[in-house]
Amino acid sequence: MCGIAGCFSEKGCYEKLLRTLRRLEYRGYDSAGIALLRKNRPRGGYGFSVRKKRGYVSALDGTRLSGSTGIGHTRWATHGAPSDVNAHPHVAGKFALVHNGIVENYAALREELTAAGETFVSETDSEVIVRLVSRCYKGDFFAAVRDACARLEGSYAVAVLCTDFPGEIVCARKKSPLVAAAGKNALYVCSDVPALAGEAEFFCPAGDGEFIRIAGGKIFLCDGDGKEIERPFVRLAAQSALPEKGEGSFMEKEIAEIPQALADTLKSLRRTDFAPCARPLRGAKRLFAVACGTAYHAALALRDMVEEEVKIPVLCHTASEFRYRGPLIGEGDVLVAISQSGETADTLEAARGAKERGAYVVAVTNAAHSSLAALADFSLLLHAGPEIAVAATKSYVCQLLCAWYLAAQTLFFKQTRLPAWFGELDRLPEAARAALGCDVSALAEQFSGARGMYFLGRGQDVVTAMEGALKVKEIAYIFAEGYAAGELKHGTLALVEEGFPVAAACTVRALAPKTCNALAEVKARGGVTVLLSQYRDLAAAADVFVALPPLPEPLMPAVAVIPLQKFACDMCRRRGYDPDKPRNLAKSVTVE
Ligand code: AGP
Repeated sequence: MCGIAGCFSEKGCYEKLLRTLRRLEYRGYDSAGIALLRKNRPRGGYGFSVRKKRGYVSALDGTRLSGSTGIGHTRWATHGAPSDVNAHPHVAGKFALVHNGIVENYAALREELTAAGETFVSETDSEVIVRLVSRCYKGDFFAAVRDACARLEGSYAVAVLCTDFPGEIVCARKKSPLVAAAGKNALYVCSDVPALAGEAEFFCPAGDGEFIRIAGGKIFLCDGDGKEIERPFVRLAAQSALPEKGEGSFMEKEIAEIPQALADTLKSLRRTDFAPCARPLRGAKRLFAVACGTAYHAALALRDMVEEEVKIPVLCHTASEFRYRGPLIGEGDVLVAISQSGETADTLEAARGAKERGAYVVAVTNAAHSSLAALADFSLLLHAGPEIAVAATKSYVCQLLCAWYLAAQTLFFKQTRLPAWFGELDRLPEAARAALGCDVSALAEQFSGARGMYFLGRGQDVVTAMEGALKVKEIAYIFAEGYAAGELKHGTLALVEEGFPVAAACTVRALAPKTCNALAEVKARGGVTVLLSQYRDLAAAADVFVALPPLPEPLMPAVAVIPLQKFACDMCRRRGYDPDKPRNLAKSVTVE
């Protein structure tokens, strides 16, 4: 999704912005742009040098633009197609602006501004903001941005330049993320911390409704009244840096990193002090879990484990639906919000809503300095390392681990005992390494031309089936359904015909006869069946058997998904696509 950047630096401002934009690329985007304040010669005063293009940040390479104050943007189209004109920055009068978010009342504002004489050049909602700032301007740059923002509904992180204030950048945030940072001889604002690695040494995230100002060679945070906020900047850790891709794709690299990610996450969980959430967890009669996409599948796994071990219900919701259902959540309830990025707008809104209703919020996130971590009462951190590929892989497996660990702690707080599998968690990294050895390339070759496929499971394996299907859809662009095997006969089976691929995961011995029956029903109709299981005696139940490394049954979802991730990636390659750049998708979904 859109990334914004701003920089003040006497030397190399354009290059610094370009490098920052390159590090924002992983969020997913379709166009990019930069604007710098430039001295007008010989007339005096300042104007803007703007370079913006549809396509990659590399399109901005070339002669550097001069100037010491600039803003940059990577755009993921929402209002208006990807094009040079719709790309940011947008300019109106004395102002240039970049925006991440969605202005929900943009149509009404656009109408009002048009009636007042403004002529819009783009189709974006963002142009409304810059024109509004321009209209609000009475000589006080900061006040103009504050007044304009007060009229906006929706979400925004904006960075604004004004030709009357060379050396100044005014930024505002509501819901969309924004960070202030300082490096050697340069000041920055940016959508995320990793994009600042290598540039900045210290950073400080802005809170919701706060402003960041760069002025007089200093950077500071301000509240809604324009009053400076005292908040310390923290050192940017070396491990925040974005990794190099090396050979192959980020997705392949990140799948290969799963064993290490699990080991690191486990180590950190063992050191985590759960005492702050002991009271809410002990007292909770039920849990809520919210998340999106892959993280939602981890939320389902949390539900499965808590209900099995702790015997309290877990109400699991896709975050985008949760807030609109008027959820029956309140004091005494605990909501677990799972998000790799910690910036997913839907998940953040769901967590915010729950908190407003008095619930205790536990975040499970890979981003310690994210908005979700800041909002939550308690955070469980994945130590998956940066995940760049849009398709979540190592973060999912680490989310499962965190979810199970939380289930174990909940059991402990309620009954002073731990689940039987708790001592076996140490085996996860090694088992994951063994699962990486599962060869699915022949399968990928066989099915890469398929028009659709099903993934089935029962019990805890339904979640694995859903995650496998999501991976195949998002990067191989093959229609796939992840389903409870028992539902097959209730409609799904109608689509099974000669050669139709159906893969099932079966990691629970007690459920094996039923899952194998489902595969038999598929076979009887000419479908091609695949079974993933640690129980080798089940091999004959399918045309192709994928042997999983054995672990205690409740932990099997962490390894069963790995061959499916590899399968999706392999299919993607065979079909000629780039696994790191799935069409239409973004890594960080910062708008609702
Ligand atoms: C997973 O492969 C997807 N890219 C997507 O479903 C993702 O998990 C979802 O958007 C949630 O992201 P988050 O974990 O950063 O909140």
